[in-house]
Amino acid sequence: MKQTIIAPSILSGNFASLGDEVRNMTEIGADWIHVDVMDGVFVPNLTFGFKMIKDLRPLSKLFFDVHLMITEPSRYVERFVQSGADLVSFHVEAEKDISGTLDKIRNAGCKCGLVINPDTPVDSFAPYVDKVDLMLVMSVFPGFGGQKFIDGSLERIAVAKSMRDKAGANALIEVDGGVNVENAADIIAAGADILVAGNAVFGAPDRKEAIRLLRN
Ligand code: DX5
Ligand code: ZN
Repeated sequence: MKQTIIAPSILSGNFASLGDEVRNMTEIGADWIHVDVMDGVFVPNLTFGFKMIKDLRPLSKLFFDVHLMITEPSRYVERFVQSGADLVSFHVEAEKDISGTLDKIRNAGCKCGLVINPDTPVDSFAPYVDKVDLMLVMSVFPGFGGQKFIDGSLERIAVAKSMRDKAGANALIEVDGGVNVENAADIIAAGADILVAGNAVFGAPDRKEAIRLLRN
């Protein structure tokens, strides 16, 4: 069996010492670092942009999984690639030219992903299944860490997986929002390849153990 990738979300880390948080995640065995970029327009919260990613980049060799929650991401995707992202994903709800934006990311030499909100049809992935490296199914409405996993998400994950498998595509299925050690096994069973976890890792008394429990 393929091992599940655990991607701690630094949104739940201490912003006054994000460098230390990224080093800590690297030392305790996280697989990826999930980086949530919010513009205060697409979602009602603000985080950080290129400069933060550029400055964090030299601190870890881990894969930087950049989740853009910004309107019209086509304007900025290349700059996120230049800042050190290994994968840039954006929301289908936020961009008119989805194909063109995926091409921009790819042509800049980066992996690309598409994200759907909990109330967006899973079918929205259909035209792009063989053009993306990652399909991210949001299991909360984006904007904040520490929310409760929306139960209907399990079915949506399964639909995305079967869509991917039927197409014979290689895109990884990622799940983001409210993932914890109690629901991780069900989410993996539904078809997730990657679990994003904010509070479940950063809020745990033993972060290393939390990552181990999420994986199994
Ligand atoms: C939500 C972000 C998530 C968030 C997950 O808008 O996209 O990545 O950090 O945090 P938890 O795991 O605490 O729900
Ligand atoms: Zn995220």
